[in-house]
Amino acid sequence: MIYPILLVVHNALRWLVLGSLLASLGSSISGLLRHRTYQPIDQTLRVVATSIAHTQLLVGFYLYAKSPIVSYYWKSHPTYQDGREFSFFSLIHIGLMLTSVIVMTIGSSKAKRQKSDQQKFKTTAIYFAIGLLLIFIAIPWPFSPFANRPLYRSF
Ligand code: HEM
Repeated sequence: MIYPILLVVHNALRWLVLGSLLASLGSSISGLLRHRTYQPIDQTLRVVATSIAHTQLLVGFYLYAKSPIVSYYWKSHPTYQDGREFSFFSLIHIGLMLTSVIVMTIGSSKAKRQKSDQQKFKTTAIYFAIGLLLIFIAIPWPFSPFANRPLYRSF
């Protein structure tokens, strides 16, 4: 069955999403503070972070179509009292994650078109910080008030 595989992949990809986003955010903030030139590595970090987020988005859509939690939500319309996980994954998680990836994508393409190096750093830093915040809120951390999932899964 594909569902458990998607769960493992989606779970692990979260770390790549966060790591690449933090790396690009770090390079943008350091570029801003040190007034340095925008180098190829800064562009690579920005493009890689956006691409990994897009990959996670695709896996997320596939998972959404296969998840018994999501299909139960749309079939039976459980109330919030039946368990907040159903509405969390069916509405909140997808909504916030989709928004964050759109924000990142807009930021990345805006940064690419900026004229000055400082503007490139600033645009990336602002858009990616918003994206990171939304992703952080929407991840079902073991300490999240909405839904709790393990930090790591294996096959
Ligand atoms: C950057 C984006 C995203 C991150 C970092 C992320 C992260 C996660 C994590 C860590 C889990 C828990 C996995 C587990 O149970 O081990 C999860 C579950 C889930 N995600 Fe995402 N996700 C993202 C985007 C999306 C999107 C866009 C969708 C839908 C289109 C989606 C749909 C789901 C669903 C349906 C589950 C629950 C599956 C289930 O337990 O049956 N995710 N996500």
